[in-house]
Amino acid sequence: MTKGKVDALLGIVFGDEGKGKVVDVFTPRYDVVARFAGGPNAGHTIIFEGKKFVLRSIPSGIFDEGKLNIIGNGCVIAPDLFAAEAHELEAAGYDLKSRLHISKRAHLILPTHRVLDRAYEAAKGKNKVGTTGKGIGPTYSEKASRTGLRVGDILDNFQEKYNALKARHMQILSDMHYTDFDITEEEKLWMEGVEYLRQFPLTDTEIEINRALEAGKNVLAEGAQGTMLDIDHGTYPFVSSSSTVCGGVCTGLGVAPNRIGEVFGIFKAYSTRVGAGPFPVELFDETGDLIREVGHEYGAVTGRNRRCGWLDLVALKYAIMLNGVTQLIMMKSDVLDGFDTIRVCTAYEKDGVQTTDMPYDTEGWKAVYEDLPGWKTDLTQMTSEQQFPLQLRDYISYIEKETATPITIVSVGPDRAQTIMR
Ligand code: IMP
Repeated sequence: MTKGKVDALLGIVFGDEGKGKVVDVFTPRYDVVARFAGGPNAGHTIIFEGKKFVLRSIPSGIFDEGKLNIIGNGCVIAPDLFAAEAHELEAAGYDLKSRLHISKRAHLILPTHRVLDRAYEAAKGKNKVGTTGKGIGPTYSEKASRTGLRVGDILDNFQEKYNALKARHMQILSDMHYTDFDITEEEKLWMEGVEYLRQFPLTDTEIEINRALEAGKNVLAEGAQGTMLDIDHGTYPFVSSSSTVCGGVCTGLGVAPNRIGEVFGIFKAYSTRVGAGPFPVELFDETGDLIREVGHEYGAVTGRNRRCGWLDLVALKYAIMLNGVTQLIMMKSDVLDGFDTIRVCTAYEKDGVQTTDMPYDTEGWKAVYEDLPGWKTDLTQMTSEQQFPLQLRDYISYIEKETATPITIVSVGPDRAQTIMR
């Protein structure tokens, strides 16, 4: 029997590429859908059977009865937020407990991790990362320090382990003089979340996935955040705390590199970033405001304004290299419908020096642009590539040539029907 493959579907710039819209095109092709990194800092808006859901920790294959969904070992999970997310899906009639397995090795986000997240951000002052406040950084730090609690811990003597870790956190917070908080209510919901979590199959998901692959089944690894937020390769320290790149699929699910098949890289026809950190293409003028307004660029988790700018080929090429992207998916092309000229950042410049390679320190670099003619046409009604205006075809060819990667899907609007396969 032919062994199955793990395909990866990844946001390859700063996240928020609108992956939620294409996952339902993808999920029917797979037997298993798995999350390999991140936690409730993610927010994928999915419209399924006319209803809108925001998935944070739960994989997008959850709507399909026949699919196994996995929250892998590379993820972090907040039981209270997980329970709230799951209850909403259960109320809509989806039977989660038969479809969702959670790795015993995934780490738990405690209420005090969230307080620590806030305390560390406050202590950083103007250098703050602008985190989502979900406790992501402190939980992954604790994983690396080997002091964290894992999902498997709830199966044995949990209250004692919880109390010990909470006491440690309270001591750190007291040392930081960060004492003005009350987690009584939050902690109650969190403990209820732990009880709820116990009702799910808590398993060795790496073994399950590998058995599925041996049996010829195909797995979709669903990314979160984006490559430029990767802990190693992103704009450190303005990054998230996990491996968001394709390599994270291997460590975050326990699959070997030779099991990886296609790598789908999702990007937007322009750039956005939420949170602090270098962003050479950022526009501070009305063009930036217009992109934000037309593209509804406001954070899914925090509601913050997203910073907007033109497409950044330096970042895109870097991400394609790091992830081994085999196919590109361009989202939100219609947001650029009204512009006479569309700019593309082809290099960064600082002190008279230009680079097309992502620099170690992206701070202080300015974008160098090439201008392309806009299409000035409403794309939203188009149903096939043949209807695309010449300027859009040129924009697509330009990106494909620069990146040496095919763009196989172009999205021209928020609706599922507005997804053009090439
Ligand atoms: P954290 O992941 O909450 O620690 O936040 C670290 C940085 O990553 C901040 O700039 C966040 O805005 C950003 N971030 C985290 N998750 C996402 C996401 O799903 N989409 C976009 N940005 C994110």
